[in-house]
Amino acid sequence: MSAPAPQPPRVAGPETQPWQRLRELTSMTGARQMRELFAADPKRFEHCSAQAANLLLDYSRQRVDTEVLATFAALAEAVGLREATAAMRRGEQINTTEKRAVLHVALRQRAGQQLGGAQVERMVLAERERMLDFAERVGRRFKTVVNIGIGGSDLGPAMAVQALQRYTEGAPRLAFVSNVDGCQISDLIATADPATTLFIVASKTFTTQETLANARAAREWVAGALGEAAVPDHFAAVSVNTAAMNAFGVHPDYRFEMWDWVGGRYSIWSSIGVSLAIAIGRDRFLAFLDGGRDIDEHFASAPWGANLPALAALLGVWNSNFLALPTLAVLPYDQRLARFPAYLQQLEMESLGKSVTQGGTAVQWTTGPVIWGEPGNNAQHSFFQLLHQGTPRAALDFLLPARSSCGRQGQHDLAIANCLAQAEAFAFGQSLDVAGSVHKVHDGNRPVSLLTFDALDPATLGRLIAHYEHKVFAQSVIWGINAFDQWGVELGKKLCAELVPAVTGEEAGAGPGATAGAGAGPAAVPEHLRPLLKVLRGWK
Ligand code: F6P
Repeated sequence: MSAPAPQPPRVAGPETQPWQRLRELTSMTGARQMRELFAADPKRFEHCSAQAANLLLDYSRQRVDTEVLATFAALAEAVGLREATAAMRRGEQINTTEKRAVLHVALRQRAGQQLGGAQVERMVLAERERMLDFAERVGRRFKTVVNIGIGGSDLGPAMAVQALQRYTEGAPRLAFVSNVDGCQISDLIATADPATTLFIVASKTFTTQETLANARAAREWVAGALGEAAVPDHFAAVSVNTAAMNAFGVHPDYRFEMWDWVGGRYSIWSSIGVSLAIAIGRDRFLAFLDGGRDIDEHFASAPWGANLPALAALLGVWNSNFLALPTLAVLPYDQRLARFPAYLQQLEMESLGKSVTQGGTAVQWTTGPVIWGEPGNNAQHSFFQLLHQGTPRAALDFLLPARSSCGRQGQHDLAIANCLAQAEAFAFGQSLDVAGSVHKVHDGNRPVSLLTFDALDPATLGRLIAHYEHKVFAQSVIWGINAFDQWGVELGKKLCAELVPAVTGEEAGAGPGATAGAGAGPAAVPEHLRPLLKVLRGWK
């Protein structure tokens, strides 16, 4: 990896002239009706869509016009987005609070690209080969493969295995266990045979409470049924923490390295994706990486007006900061993408949920929106009512493949028609003279982006993920925040560790006869929690 070069001070979007211009345009273009925007430009689809590889972004139903789009490009220039991207690709320490490079793009590189430098390339390619070899030779021999992990060590592989189910012929059954409460591991144990089950403990740190609790339960199950000596044959692990993998007893051939320059939520491209590799096989995993790389190259070089991740980022900024829409609903019209909204929740909200700039000052502007969503058709029959006619408003991302992901094109055509109908309804609404009743009026003018593609295959899934990763990065540059740390998750973890003894009753003075404020427990347990803890203990 190249030595960390001093970074030039960057200016955040709100401190630039294009931002001021967007403010002026808010009461002009931003206030216009979608009908007017379409009427003013009969070729609006051509002017407000862009394509990269097989991804087509149709943003004609966003409240933008040529002047707003030109100002978007000026904003991208003013914040130095091109240079920020180049700095990431060179392996500079752009994660300043953790003093780390950010090189998930290096995980999708081919030989000779030297992203992050020659040494990073060597390590990535060597570990990728080991992992793919293990996936094919060992992983696919088992009947059940269980990924134990949480957050970035779960959501990516779980989402992707479901998305690419069509490409998993001959693979073992894949299961994912993340929650600490023990129900998932318990359900799994009830339906699997220890002799034919492989557990993958996926944890960058190998210190995550939820993952360790589930891994211990799995280990007990295997050792109890097959004997302690069988444990190494049934556990693989992915981590930066060699000592912890040693302590757990993971066989050296069954452990895979990752690096501190891969953030958990950006790690599916690394050996954290081993469960995906087992599911879809070597060639398709490589195609998945290739898809991600297509978008890396596109993002690094395409002009702003044709650059999908940059456009999506700027549209998001426009909707959040100027049109005051604080949430983004992600609505895939494909059941196979059911976990995609959850995956994006971590990617976007852990990355952009910040209110301090890279320089350490409080931001004076809105940053990352709330991300939420469901498969679109199900959502139509639950929360779309509020989106159409309620008072809170949201921006909407629709994801739509042209081809069925399960070979039922006739039914998928219905999904396509639903998706387009909803996009139209959100954009254009329905006026009183057509509706005939005030209760049936739709104001419309809800901004919709349609991200369409031919089929949900491994390369396309790679492109979709990389598209959102770079969108998030571009937004972090515009907002002047660090997309790669996550300090906000630490406080809860620390408080939880302090509370565990009081909850389990292992804390001194917490026995059945203990009274509130008995005084012998750790000072960290607040007195006001003791009555509630006592009630909970009584119910156990
Ligand atoms: O608590 C948040 C987090 O640190 C995520 O960023 C990460 O993806 C997840 O926990 C799991 O962490 P690990 O892979 O170290 O177990």
